[in-house]
Parts: sequence; C-alpha cells; structure tokens
Amino acid sequence: MCGVVGGVSERNMVPIILEGLSRLEYRGYDSAGITVIGSSNKLARQRVTGRVEELAKICGNENFRGLCGIGHTRWATHGGVTIDNAHPHFSNDKIALVHNGIIENYAPIREELKAKGYEFKSETDTEVIVHLIHSLYVTNKNLLLSVKEATKQLHGAYAIGVMCVDNPDEMVCARLGAPLILGLGIGEMFFASDISALLPVTQKVVYLEDGDVAIITRAGYKVYDAHDKEIFRKPNISELSVTQTELNGYRHYMQKEIFEQPDAIAQTLQSLGNSFNTNVFGRDAGKIFKQIDQVQIIACGTSYNAGMVAKYWIEDFAGLECRVDIASEYRYSKPPKRPNTLIVSLSQSGETADTLASVKYAHELGMTNTLAICNVAESSLTRLSKLSILTQAGPEIGVASTKAFTTQLVVLLYLANTLAMTKGHLTSNDAEARIRQMRCLPQLIIDTLKLEEQLKLIAKEMEYKQHALFLGRNTLYPIAVEGSLKLKEISYIHAEAYAAGELKHGPLALIDKEMPAIILMPGNLLHDKVKSNVQEVLARQGVVYLFTDTEEDVTAKCHRVVKMPENIAEYLLPIIYTIPLQLLSYHTAITKGTDVDKPRNLAKSVTVE
Ligand code: M6R
Repeated sequence: MCGVVGGVSERNMVPIILEGLSRLEYRGYDSAGITVIGSSNKLARQRVTGRVEELAKICGNENFRGLCGIGHTRWATHGGVTIDNAHPHFSNDKIALVHNGIIENYAPIREELKAKGYEFKSETDTEVIVHLIHSLYVTNKNLLLSVKEATKQLHGAYAIGVMCVDNPDEMVCARLGAPLILGLGIGEMFFASDISALLPVTQKVVYLEDGDVAIITRAGYKVYDAHDKEIFRKPNISELSVTQTELNGYRHYMQKEIFEQPDAIAQTLQSLGNSFNTNVFGRDAGKIFKQIDQVQIIACGTSYNAGMVAKYWIEDFAGLECRVDIASEYRYSKPPKRPNTLIVSLSQSGETADTLASVKYAHELGMTNTLAICNVAESSLTRLSKLSILTQAGPEIGVASTKAFTTQLVVLLYLANTLAMTKGHLTSNDAEARIRQMRCLPQLIIDTLKLEEQLKLIAKEMEYKQHALFLGRNTLYPIAVEGSLKLKEISYIHAEAYAAGELKHGPLALIDKEMPAIILMPGNLLHDKVKSNVQEVLARQGVVYLFTDTEEDVTAKCHRVVKMPENIAEYLLPIIYTIPLQLLSYHTAITKGTDVDKPRNLAKSVTVE
C-alpha cells in the first residue's frame, strides 16, 4: 500500500523522486520521505508526516541533491504516523532503504539484531530489513549479496529499494508479493511501485517477478530470480502516457474518471469485438469454458460488488452455478475442491493481496482454471492466472473506484454471454442483439451523466446526514451496495445497503424522518415489489430519493425523484444506475469538503492483508 521510487542518474534525482512520489500518493499518503547520497557521499534525508506536497516544500534547498536517491509515500501498518516511522530507514548512516509490504517475522529478527547491538529508531517492521542487510554487509562488503541473503530470511511481502554510501553508482531492488518495476532511461535507471511514477522519465519498463533481486546502475540492470540464477527480464514499452495520468482540467481524479466512463466502456467494448468469442480470454479459454460446470468469483471491495452483479448474469444466461466470495474470506475458507470450476478474480489493480492469495489458494486446491479480469497489464494477478482479460479503463487514480467498476461489469456481461454461448444457451440472433445493445452503453452513460445538476442538489441535502440507506433488488441490489460504499468511502456518511426485500427483516426499524432511503426502482420485472418497499418507507415518514424510469402515484410522495433514461435492456440497468450514485457520492464529498481522491485512512491499492 506504500509507494516506492528511486534511481541512479546523471542528473539530480530529487525532482524525479518528488514527481514520482506525488504520482504514487494514491497508494498511501500519511507520510513521505526521500534520501539521496549527496556530493560528500553521505546520506541526506527529508521526511514529513502528511503529503508529498509538504515534503517538496522542505526539499527546496539547493544543497539537498544527489544522483542516487530513493523515496517513499507511506500507508501506516506497523507504527503510527510519525517522522521516525516514515521511510527511508537507515542503518549506521551507511545503508538506506524504502519498503512496501509487511514483514511478518520482524519481531524475532529485531531481537536478534538488538542483541548484536543494532539500535532501532522506529516502530516499523521495515527497519529490521535495513539493519539485517547492514549486518550482512559488514562481512561481505557487497550490497547485492547482502540483499539476496537478507531477503531469504524475510517472511511476508516486500518491494524494496536499497542504496549504500560506499557505492553511490548502484542500487539494489527486490520484490516478493508486492509490485516493483524497473524503468530504463538513457544513462539512468529507476525503480518504482508502478509505471505511473516513472512516466515523466521513461516508458521503457521491466516487470520484476516474485523472488527477483535486481541491481541497477546508470548503464544497465541485472536480475537474479528466486533461485539466484541470473535471468533476462525483457523490457516492455508502456502504452500509458503522462497525460493519461493527469487531471486535464478536472478538479479531481474521481470526477475525471466518472466522466471518462463513456470512453472507457467504448474502448473496452472495442477490445472485445463484435461477437462473443472465447479467444479474447486467452488461447485455452474455449476448451476451459466447455469443461467447467460452475463459476467462483473472488474479489474485494468495489470489484466484489461487480462480482455480485455477475452472479445474476452467469446463472441466468449460462445456467451455471456461480458463487461470489470476498477474497479475504475465501482464502481462509474450505471450499469444495471442484476442478471443473472457473475461478474468476476481479481486480482493478491486480495487486490486492487477498485476491492474489485466493487465486494461489484455488491453485493449491487443484482449481487451476483461473481467469483474471483486471485493469493493469502485467499485474501480479494477470501473470498468476491461466487466462486473463483487461478492462480498458486506463489508469484509475482516485481511491474511489468508478470507471474500473463499470468496465468490469461490461467484461463480466460479455463473459456471462460467452459462457451462455459455449453452453448452448444463446442463439446467434440473441447474441447479435445483445452485442448491439451493449454498444449503446457509451451513449446511455453520456445521457445519464446529464443528471449531474440534480445530484448536486441531493448532495447538498446529504451534507448533514449521519446515515443513509440504499435499497435495490436483483442486479440493482449490488449497485445499492456499491452506491453505499462510494458514499461512506469519500463522504464519511454511514451508509448501508440492503436487498429491498430484506427491509421488513430489520432495517425498517431505522426509518424515520431523518433517514434518507435511496431506492433503485427501474421499470423491470421486480418493479412492483420495489414499489411496495417504497410505500413501506413512506408509511414510516422515511425520506425517499427514488431513482426510476417510471412515473406513477408513488413518485409524487417521494422527497426527490431522479428520472433515469427509459427503455434500457434489463441487463444494462446495473451499469446505468451506477452512474448517478457515483455522482451523488462525489458531490456529497465536495459539499462536505472531504479529500475526494485521498479519503482518510484508505489507499488505492491494498497490497497488505
Ligand atoms: O484493485 P482492486 O479492484 O483489487 O481493489 C479492491 C478494493 O480495494 C477497491 O475496489 C476498493 O473497495 C475501492 N477503493 C472502493 O472504491
């Protein structure tokens, strides 16, 4: 969840690291730090609690410069948010290190190192790594070797960058269970948690694998795999550009990403093609889809909510049993070992620790037909899974997931139909009609985004609310869940979602004239059932905000009615009804003045358990 960046160059590394850190800030933003090896071959460090912006202010001094440097933006796990706990950490003013991940066996190592006389200045698990490396370096005088030997003793997850004053022309990096890439420049070499940090300096990257240790110099890089064998990891040219990761006139990334959805969905649809084709999921997908007799979806947070929608589609269209599990639960559960299961993992980042662990667990249980639906090419998840498909959302930087969710839904709808076709449940006429309908999505979203002014008004009314209830049925139930997650995540209003039929089984007790009930009531098959739920809330003086495409008696009694676009195919409803809920949470957060893109206590990529 932290971000790391650094490198060796022929130019001053300080501005490069600061820019990289601000681009990585979505990964964690409670403290930040930077260390360079200065002209006198001494470690020079600046650290702050708070944002990279604050760090930049104290790095302005001309003497704070160096051709070799590392930086870190932190999301606290071990130890509070203090300067002492901020990275980089030092050992004996000789070796400096930044780390993303968690070292599980830090306590015994710490005791051993203390017994050897090492003095700990922080409460972090990270500090043991730097002292451990130093303790080995004292004898072998070789940083690469020391890092290799030290990492063998670590249990847990790490992506580290390490430098030593004895050789300011080289740096050593290593990864296990946390992402790390190398960036290749001309006469300079970098490392970072992800490509966004390096885009201003290079698009040429090398993806390190789990267990890799790499040494970088201005002239090149060498990588050693988990078996300590030197291995060539091929450079890739990233298709991302600097402009894709900038605000481009928007006030917040979340706002930009909400409005990018028509385009992101159009790109995703284009990548899928004009028919339901197994090949887009990978070479063996046709064979695997024929074999499987059930689907298991695994994901966290918003991605999990997308999975819940997909369950309805997969069971309805393909007639396949579909289970959906939260990854942090699945990895410790005892699911039946059914090899004919298609394990579908969903993740924007492809680096979520629990999701990765669940896919590994499924493999251990003999369920190896794994498909990753992910937004990041070459992520750990896509590399781990047998099959993979990318959502073409482009970089999502706002912590609250928006375009990644709707593009996941598009791919899942495509998957459900492809499975239906494979299982003989879809005629070619129906398939053509569905593809045609899906192609309407970008325009439908453009139309739905026009509701923004109405949602701003509702957001103003939400400002002083402590709680909110979201209700929906069928595929709109997970959308209610997603709407409530968005609201609580960025506006800090306690929001809960229920399948509307559950109202009488408890939540109705919460209804009074203070409680806003946000109810999703499209004119579909379950319309009358939801209408009864609306009546139940109204009868108890609840304040109803109704999202519907129908007009009838009940709407007159609702506090506000948001008129949704009409005549939308049933299976597109969850995608369309997501849009106003995103806008509602965005504008509520604006009204409340919270930090929309970096809500308190959260990070974009949850790479720790
Ligand atoms: O990268 P992932 O999709 O695996 O992330 C999963 C969740 O951490 C993520 O969806 C989270 O719930 C969002 N911040 C919610 O907006």
